[in-house]
Amino acid sequence: MPTKSHDAMIVGNWKMYKTLAEATEFIHGFKSSHEAYLSVAFTLIQPLSKIAPPNLIIGAQNMNDATEGAFTGEISARMLKDAGAKFVILGHSERRTFFKEDSAFIQKKVAKALTEGLSVILCVGETLDQKESGETKKILESEVVESLGNLSGDQLKNLTIAYEPIWAIGTGHACDAKEANSAHELIKSIVEKMAKTKVKVLYGGSVNPENAGSYLAQNNIDGLLIGGASLNVASFDKILSIV
Ligand code: PGA
Repeated sequence: MPTKSHDAMIVGNWKMYKTLAEATEFIHGFKSSHEAYLSVAFTLIQPLSKIAPPNLIIGAQNMNDATEGAFTGEISARMLKDAGAKFVILGHSERRTFFKEDSAFIQKKVAKALTEGLSVILCVGETLDQKESGETKKILESEVVESLGNLSGDQLKNLTIAYEPIWAIGTGHACDAKEANSAHELIKSIVEKMAKTKVKVLYGGSVNPENAGSYLAQNNIDGLLIGGASLNVASFDKILSIV
């Protein structure tokens, strides 16, 4: 039976929001002393790494799998680390959908990030169509297995998975907490079977200060990945105060 970590991991995903002035205002208004993670635009990584308090860990939202090379518009793991990023979100459904990233490509990025010493938050989740046609289990299984490839349990110790049902992202239709808990249990058992290791699994999709507690009360939900509600410092602080 997978165990729940007693200290929830709370991650904000700012997506393509905030200029440096807006981000700086957020940092100055941030009050929580709980550890939190903030995944920001590339331009914000270096300045925020310098001004964020030590309990606020700055990371990125994407990267390329190559070490370096002629890949116009891309960014490498080494560049992210150089800028101060401690972690990277990979395989977010917005990358999979809008930028046609498949699990084979994501697997290469996961391997590269871990090799370069960046922690990884790997996102998986089903669409509404897949959920309604009873394919959730199949989709989660294939996304987890294909995105992690042959990585060993030892390599995966710096990896966290985020279960983000696509139909719940940015829609206000958050997934029922018990339903999310079952998906988390499934994801943990898939990883345990393939790599003989335990992973933390975060829930993401329309999390807000009102519903955050219901997820954190579930035994297989180890934290939250928060989009919209992480943009406002008061609501992000409020979620952290529930932990
Ligand atoms: P949301 O986004 O909280 O705005 O639904 C979550 C995410 O995409 O990580």
